[in-house]
Amino acid sequence: MAKELVAGQRKNKYKIVISKDAISEKNLAPLLHGHNKALIISDDGVPPKLIKRIVEICKPSTKVFKIILQHGEKAKSIQNFKKILNFLADKNFDRTDLVVSVGGGVVGDISGYVASSYLRGIEFVQVPTTLLSQVDSSVGGKTAINISAGKNLVGAFYNPKGVIIETAALKTLPNREFKAGLAEVIKYALIKNNYLFSLLETHAKKILSMEHNVIEEIIYRSIQTKAKIVTKDERENGIRAILNFGHTFGHAIEAHGKYKKILHGEAIAKGMKIASKISYLENCINEKDYKKIIDLLELYKFDLSLDQYKYQELKPYIFRDKKIKAGRLNLVLLNKISKAMVTSSFDLRNLQKGLKD
Ligand SMILES: NC(=O)c1ccc[n+]([C@@H]2O[C@H](COP(=O)([O-])OP(=O)(O)OC[C@H]3O[C@@H](n4cnc5c(N)ncnc54)[C@H](O)[C@@H]3O)[C@@H](O)[C@H]2O)c1
Ligand SMILES: [Zn+2]
Repeated sequence: MAKELVAGQRKNKYKIVISKDAISEKNLAPLLHGHNKALIISDDGVPPKLIKRIVEICKPSTKVFKIILQHGEKAKSIQNFKKILNFLADKNFDRTDLVVSVGGGVVGDISGYVASSYLRGIEFVQVPTTLLSQVDSSVGGKTAINISAGKNLVGAFYNPKGVIIETAALKTLPNREFKAGLAEVIKYALIKNNYLFSLLETHAKKILSMEHNVIEEIIYRSIQTKAKIVTKDERENGIRAILNFGHTFGHAIEAHGKYKKILHGEAIAKGMKIASKISYLENCINEKDYKKIIDLLELYKFDLSLDQYKYQELKPYIFRDKKIKAGRLNLVLLNKISKAMVTSSFDLRNLQKGLKD
């Protein structure tokens, strides 16, 4: 059954549609209405058939242009940003025209940032096609590109006009990418959504074999959780921080491997183990709950080993984290399963112990 959600406040509200075959005339036509031209931005890892279907739906009402970037994190560059802006200007795009991003978080992030800045903002639609982008990056209004000083250092908060999530698009996604996206789903269960936690416990087999109904349900529950949080805190001044559960350590692990060895979700799974262990060592959760969390991560076959990471090696990355405010490291810990909190008062020795297997 198709599902719908709304995120964003007042004028910036947008609808998110989730279904097996969401890329349809019915869902796209209302978003195309009033736009004479549309630029589809995608990358060469996204199946061309999927892009073609969108072009065909747009064609009768809208003049369609395409830019296909080379896949990979490097696509979120200043050079590509400039290239796309120049393309829009060359084709005389004006403020009534549209950007449509079709792909994973990389394509979504750069497309959103282009849309936020061209003519001080033109509308854009997200068609996320990886699990990570379907449950995370397409919702929440964060857009970004990378500069040499770091990832996502340049960007804007800019909500899309609509998000279309076709779960069947996941069929072509490499299994490793799919599983990495599941780490974010587990994150929502751990920080806020107990129902999602039980779904994940009960239906691992169906989820891992991508059974449609249950995939649609976990995507819906994930976005519902994220949408509630980001709608309350659009600019990350408060509650939104809990979305970073496991991320201080996950980011350190990714940076330590120079972003080559490990996918984001794989690092986050390890990071969530560390943050849960610290929560246990700090007496915020009991041993039974800690074990339940580890069991869930293991049920989804995440590699949780930490032996290759020494505290001293990760420390500089941990303390460089964006979450440091006024010189204090804020950690997202759990008070219980499905209840996260942010704290800067914890024993540093527990942080060190948390990093041990
Ligand atoms: N804006 C946010 O709130 C937010 C949140 C989380 C992550 N991000 C960003 O998202 C990016 C990661 O996104 P990602 O994990 O989706 O990676 P990605 O966009 O690099 O996609 C992963 C790979 O899958 C391919 N692909 C996409 N759809 C496919 C499909 N249906 N079938 C087969 N292959 C397909 C892509 O071509 C790419 O090679 C990072 O840059 C990260 O910073 C942003
Ligand atoms: Zn993440």
